[in-house]
Amino acid sequence: MYSIIYESEAHADFSPTAIFKMLLGAKNYNREHGITGCIIFYKGVFLQLLEGAEEEVEKLFGRIKEDNRHHDVKVILENDGNGRLWEDWSMAFYDLSGSDKDITQKRQLLEIYFNSANTDKGSNEVFRVFKDTAFDLLQE
Ligand SMILES: Cc1cc2nc3c(=O)[nH]c(=O)nc-3n(C[C@H](O)[C@H](O)[C@H](O)COP(=O)(O)O)c2cc1C
Repeated sequence: MYSIIYESEAHADFSPTAIFKMLLGAKNYNREHGITGCIIFYKGVFLQLLEGAEEEVEKLFGRIKEDNRHHDVKVILENDGNGRLWEDWSMAFYDLSGSDKDITQKRQLLEIYFNSANTDKGSNEVFRVFKDTAFDLLQE
């Protein structure tokens, strides 16, 4: 299983509603091409995990990089060999921009993840932190 985690900056006019609509099409594509993952939107930043066959992930990521609804696409991790994390989702979406108490706590924990990802690029540790922190939090 091949995985990429990247982060990018959303263009200011790309609203959560527009993101949601875009993902309706994305989910169909992903389902047809065996791609799963999740996408987190936080403080105008996307964090996306794509997983599937290497060729399919690379092909999709090539298209996503060219998408002008976001910019500054930076790969945090590419990993060949971890198991699939998001078996049941063609692309789970979490908008953590809200302000209720529950979301605030999730955001704080994800901030820890973002910080560790930024200081520890390319490490398996980042993948582990993603799995242990984001996955558990978001699947509850
Ligand atoms: C942050 C972000 C994440 C995206 N994730 C996916 C995805 O998981 N699957 C997908 O098919 N398209 C995704 N897209 C959309 C693609 O970039 C692209 O618009 C779509 O695949 C249609 O490509 P086309 O316009 O070349 O046909 C994403 C776009 C953005 C900005």
